[in-house]
Amino acid sequence: MTPRAESQVRWPRPRVVAHRGGGRLAPENTLAAIRLGARMGFRGVEFDVMLAGCGTPVLIHDETLKRTSNGRGEVARTPYAELARLDAGAWFSRSYRGEPIPAYEDAVRVCRELGLWANVEIKPSTGYDRRTGEAVALASRARWAGAPQPPVLSSFSTVALAAARSVAPELPRGLLVGRIPPHWHELMRDLDCVALHCNHRALNARLAARIHDAGYGILTWTVNERRTARKLLGWGVDCLVTDALGTIGPSFR
Ligand code: G3P
Ligand code: MG
Repeated sequence: MTPRAESQVRWPRPRVVAHRGGGRLAPENTLAAIRLGARMGFRGVEFDVMLAGCGTPVLIHDETLKRTSNGRGEVARTPYAELARLDAGAWFSRSYRGEPIPAYEDAVRVCRELGLWANVEIKPSTGYDRRTGEAVALASRARWAGAPQPPVLSSFSTVALAAARSVAPELPRGLLVGRIPPHWHELMRDLDCVALHCNHRALNARLAARIHDAGYGILTWTVNERRTARKLLGWGVDCLVTDALGTIGPSFR
C-alpha cells in the first residue's frame, strides 16, 4: 500500500474543507456560506457550534454577537428565538443582508441536502464546556442519523470532547489544538479521537509522521496558500481546512 492509499483509509473524508462555511467569500457560519462552498464543488465544510441562552445549538464563532451580527451581548445569554431574528449577513456585505444565525439542526439539514460532510467544531462559551459537548453530540447523533458519513466533532475544549464522548461515543472526535502539546498522544488516546486538528504552523514532517504512525489522521487549518497546501499534503496531511476557496479548491493536489 502506498502512503497515500493508507492516508485515504485513515481519513475516508473530503481532503479539502471550507472553513466556517464559505471561507472568506461569504459571512461565516451561515447557511448561505455552506451553500456557496457546495456550489464551488466542496464536499466538506467546517463550522462552529455554540449554545444559545436556551440551550439550542447555533452556528457562531464568537461568544459575543457584535462582530458577526447586528445584535449585542453574549450568545450564552440570548435565547435562540432572539438570535434567529438577528442579521448575520449585512456586516459582510449588502448582498447577504437578512442572512440569519442558523440553528445547528438547520445547518445539518442543508449539509445533508447538499451531500456535504461536516467537521463540527464544538465551541463552548466560557464555562459551558460540558453542556455544549453533550448538547452538540446528542444533536449530531439525532440529526446525522443514517448519513453516509457522520461528522467529526472537534474542539479546543477537552472537557467538551469528553462530554461528547460520554453521550455519543460512536461519533468520531478530533482534538483541536493551536500548538501540539507534548502529551498529544495521551490526550488523543484518553478522548478516543480519530484525528489531530492542528494549526498548520504547529506541524512539521517528523511530527506528522509520528501522528500517522500512532494511527491518527491529521487535519490542518487554516491553509490559504497553495505552496503551504502542497507542503502539508507532501507530509501526508489528510485534510486541509481553507478560507481561500478560490485558491485551494476541492480537488487540490
Ligand atoms: O476547526 C478549525 C478552526 O476553525 C479552528 O479555529 O477559531 O477558526 O474556529 P477557529
Ligand atoms: Mg472553527
